Amino acid sequence: MRKQAACIGGGVIGGGWIARFILNGWDVNVFDPQPGAAEKIQQVLDNARRSLPALADVAMPSEGKLCYCDTLEQAVENAQWIQESVPERLALKHSVFKELQRYCKSDAIIGSSTSGFTPSQLQKNSVNPGQIFVAHPFNPVYLLPLVEVVASVDNSVDLAQQVLQVLTDIGMSPLLVRREIDAHIADRLLEAVWREALWLIKDDVATTEEIDDAIRFGFGLRWAQMGLFETYRIAGGEAGMAHFIAQFGPALQWPWTKLMDVPELTDDLIEKIASQSDRQSGAYSIRQLERIRDDNLVGIMRVQKAHNWGVGKLLKAYDQQLLAAQPQPAVIPSNAEPLIMYEGRVLPAWIDYNGHMNESHYLTVLSAATDNFMAYVGVDEDYIAKGGSYFTVETHIRHLAEASLNEELQVTTQLISCDRKRMHLFHRLMHMPSGKLLATGEHMLLHMDLNSAKTCFASEDVQGRLEKIFDLHVLLDKPQGVGSAIGVRS
Ligand SMILES: NC(=O)c1ccc[n+]([C@@H]2O[C@H](COP(=O)([O-])OP(=O)(O)OC[C@H]3O[C@@H](n4cnc5c(N)ncnc54)[C@H](O)[C@@H]3O)[C@@H](O)[C@H]2O)c1
Repeated sequence: MRKQAACIGGGVIGGGWIARFILNGWDVNVFDPQPGAAEKIQQVLDNARRSLPALADVAMPSEGKLCYCDTLEQAVENAQWIQESVPERLALKHSVFKELQRYCKSDAIIGSSTSGFTPSQLQKNSVNPGQIFVAHPFNPVYLLPLVEVVASVDNSVDLAQQVLQVLTDIGMSPLLVRREIDAHIADRLLEAVWREALWLIKDDVATTEEIDDAIRFGFGLRWAQMGLFETYRIAGGEAGMAHFIAQFGPALQWPWTKLMDVPELTDDLIEKIASQSDRQSGAYSIRQLERIRDDNLVGIMRVQKAHNWGVGKLLKAYDQQLLAAQPQPAVIPSNAEPLIMYEGRVLPAWIDYNGHMNESHYLTVLSAATDNFMAYVGVDEDYIAKGGSYFTVETHIRHLAEASLNEELQVTTQLISCDRKRMHLFHRLMHMPSGKLLATGEHMLLHMDLNSAKTCFASEDVQGRLEKIFDLHVLLDKPQGVGSAIGVRS
């Protein structure tokens, strides 16, 4: 069954939700009466298409369909998930819920992007309060995984579980807030920093740029991967967290901050902040700043993926989720054909300065096909955990044609030979649907005992599967290019 979302309000946050759903294969109906809303949404989608797939190392699902609706009724009538992202005014949110609940399914989930209101406030006077809860995301919604989920006593445990499941399915990291509180968790923390920053500018202690530098050259980098408490734990040294608090706790009594107060936002103060901000960042358009932000976010997140840390762990789990959803090949081949071992698209991170897929990523794709072939013959995670695997000892790639961003790729694999320790694979990397050959990859692999780091026989089960495939593949013509190497003129 196709998954159908409705996004009510397509501004900064609604646009981000739309992109998050569409790029994860959901169909999305949008209702936003503002003229020009569609163009803004298209720009957010363009940003999302060039950044979100760069976080994944496997193909994202095919995009869902986007439909702009003329009425709220049309937008919500078939939706399983409705995300409200209209401006932060309680009366407006109430009127939107009142109208949409006339038309939506009674079991549809209604999430509100509200930054400050509690679910109880949102649910007031609703005909079906149990449908409405808070799903508070962070800008850009298509890249940042955190969503604060807040429920009231009127929301069932079952609804909370469905909510967490859907958000996880679209690559997000739902944080179930333990109890209702104004502004949830993250915005309360941000507000503390924001208040302090306003004072520092008002009192001429720092400019907007100096405050930003104090964050991005220092603690902002620590926060991005360890947060607050893990960072301070290290600051406490071997003596740990209790020692850290004993050492720095008394400083909280000193009059460092003016957190309980807020400077009056006079015209003068607003002008001071705006003109400093213009001097700091006015050379860039908002669209340029968004792209710089997105590229940096992708880089920061990918480093953590390489280290399997923080947000990187989530990205790895998301890849596994995407892989599990892809069609798996049949267990035993029934006819003499090369096996389809990889299907995906050229990802943004793979494009080099020539505008084509960089040569190293031909191997990324071929290597993924080898991994899939290994799993296909039984060398899966369990097998590897028990100490057996194949190592590639020789590779020869012929680069035959270029591949461009987002083009569909397919790799087929032919087993050229095998014995108890070896398998010789020949991959064809093709552009789809044209079938144009982009590269061939020839790989010799040896079966290893991971404990002794020596070669050894594959299990009988793996050998049996390889033999079955070989019995069919030996009937195929030898592929063009097999056994070739770069010649040397004598
Ligand atoms: N901007 C942020 O950083 C941020 C972050 C997290 C959550 N939020 C929350 O998200 C919500 C939306 O904020 P935003 O920043 O996207 O605002 P925005 O002004 O960019 O977008 C709001 C959109 O809602 C549309 N709209 C107004 N009335 C409508 C109606 N009756 N039906 C349908 N659409 C309507 C407007 O045309 C506009 O496009 C707010 O509740 C806000 O607190 C904002």
